[in-house]
Amino acid sequence: MAHPLKTSAEVLSRTPEGAYHRLVLRAPGVAPRVRPGHFATLAVGGPGSSMLLRRAFAIHRADPAAQTIELVIAERGEGTRELARARAGDLLDLIAPLGTPFPLPDGPVSALLVGGGYGGAPLLPLGEEIKRRGGQVGFILGAATAGRLFGVEQARELTEDVLVVTEDGSAGLTGRVTDPLAQAILAINATVVHSCGPMPMLAAVTRIARDLACRSWTAVEESMACGVGICMTCVLPVVGEDGVSRFVRSCTDGPVFDGARVRWKDIGAIPADLDGAAAMGVH
Ligand SMILES: Cc1cc2nc3c(=O)[nH]c(=O)nc-3n(C[C@H](O)[C@H](O)[C@H](O)COP(=O)(O)OP(=O)(O)OC[C@H]3O[C@@H](n4cnc5c(N)ncnc54)[C@H](O)[C@@H]3O)c2cc1C
Ligand code: FES
Repeated sequence: MAHPLKTSAEVLSRTPEGAYHRLVLRAPGVAPRVRPGHFATLAVGGPGSSMLLRRAFAIHRADPAAQTIELVIAERGEGTRELARARAGDLLDLIAPLGTPFPLPDGPVSALLVGGGYGGAPLLPLGEEIKRRGGQVGFILGAATAGRLFGVEQARELTEDVLVVTEDGSAGLTGRVTDPLAQAILAINATVVHSCGPMPMLAAVTRIARDLACRSWTAVEESMACGVGICMTCVLPVVGEDGVSRFVRSCTDGPVFDGARVRWKDIGAIPADLDGAAAMGVH
């Protein structure tokens, strides 16, 4: 886990981008600690609010020179609707960076980066870092509709190998990111796939990557209460290196996991063979 800071972050700008809001925050001390895959949490509602829990967001960009971080926010419920109205000069209660980021290669690799919706946000700086280390990247960016895509132009600045997929066909290919995945892995000889998006997408990406002997690193989005490893609301069943399945916390042990170790079908359940399941009354 990173060493997070809790700070009062000034909103420098909020820009609509398709279905999302790109929030640039001044957060002194935070940006130099950020690696691709880290996330941030923001308090919402102010001191008298009934919204007790912080909201989690992947960190899109971090600029140590400018002391800024950027988040990409989709409106979902009351908390994100409030953030979508943030104005320059507002102060937000921020904790960042949190979680375990994507592993970075020691040298040149060929990596395919697969993002669903705002899941593209942490993959763009990851792609830049892989290229900085001499590697090459391809992207598959998908969403339900064109307006919900994120990062297509930024990805095209990094590589010619960008596939866009929408479920309604309003941009790029019609279908899901998994449809062209096997072909894209083969086309760039990828040895690793990094993905961020909805859980069923991450499970399917991992299945296809494994069939082609690729590593699959997945950034999961599990509901989180504390975000710092205390409350255990964010646990997932994961197979350890010793072959034993355990619940692990996606806020501190993740959100990035080796997709081949996550028991995707058992998320939300307590598998009977999980370490400690008997003590939880599961047989
Ligand atoms: C590691 C991580 C990274 C994320 N990255 C992004 C991102 O880059 N951009 C983005 O728009 N959203 C992201 N999310 C989802 C975002 O946290 C939720 O959309 C947000 O918390 C919803 O809050 P709300 O008040 O608008 O919605 P409500 O539905 O009113 O929220 C009610 C409660 O449920 C929790 N909750 C609801 N949906 C989610 C969810 N999907 N994940 C976690 N908690 C949830 C909220 O935190 C809150 O406590 C991420 C979530 C996680 C865990
Ligand atoms: S959200 Fe509390 S332990 Fe992960």
